[in-house]
Amino acid sequence: MSNDISEVLYSADDIAERVAALGKEIRDYYLKANINSLLVVSVLRGSVIFFSDLIRHIDDLDLEFDFMTISSYGSSTQTCGKADVLFDISEKVAGRDVLIVEDIIDTGITMAAVFKRFETKGVKSLKLCTLLDKPARRKVPDLKIDFCGFHVPDQFIVGYGLDYAGRYRQLPYIGVLAPSVYQK
Ligand code: IMP
Ligand code: MG
Repeated sequence: MSNDISEVLYSADDIAERVAALGKEIRDYYLKANINSLLVVSVLRGSVIFFSDLIRHIDDLDLEFDFMTISSYGSSTQTCGKADVLFDISEKVAGRDVLIVEDIIDTGITMAAVFKRFETKGVKSLKLCTLLDKPARRKVPDLKIDFCGFHVPDQFIVGYGLDYAGRYRQLPYIGVLAPSVYQK
């Protein structure tokens, strides 16, 4: 499996250090804004490892978790240009402070659709935290990322939750998938 990775971008230690700092950044932001309780929404399945690590670094806030699944690529490395909700959150969000946790923002189409959906539900505030930002192919230029782990180049990334065709999610590091894998 590791033969399929052409480059390791971030080791498990790099990730742990950055995720801890990001958790503190999020905590500081909300405490400063006098917000003490937060609904944190993990976008399945890619963000689940990041989410589990991140929330354990958000101290001093009351957190509730929720989950949603958005349709994704299937086995391709290109987005299909639209995003459908396959599994929705179960909590009521009206009047609540909501933080969405995503694995990677590429074109931004998925998150733009998620944002639109939450905005019509009368949330009090809505923020976006992504592990990775891949800005090269952005199609939603005004998408605002509030908290970001790392910026990555325009390559296909796997590991630490991110997959290609359902594989590689369990890799403890973040790496570039060798193009030979998907060009076969
Ligand atoms: P967007 O709608 O183009 O921003 O795509 C976002 C979704 O595509 C993410 O939630 C990921 O599931 C998937 N995605 C985009 N780029 C990558 C990548 O490099 N590796 C793995 N999944 C990716
Ligand atoms: Mg995703």
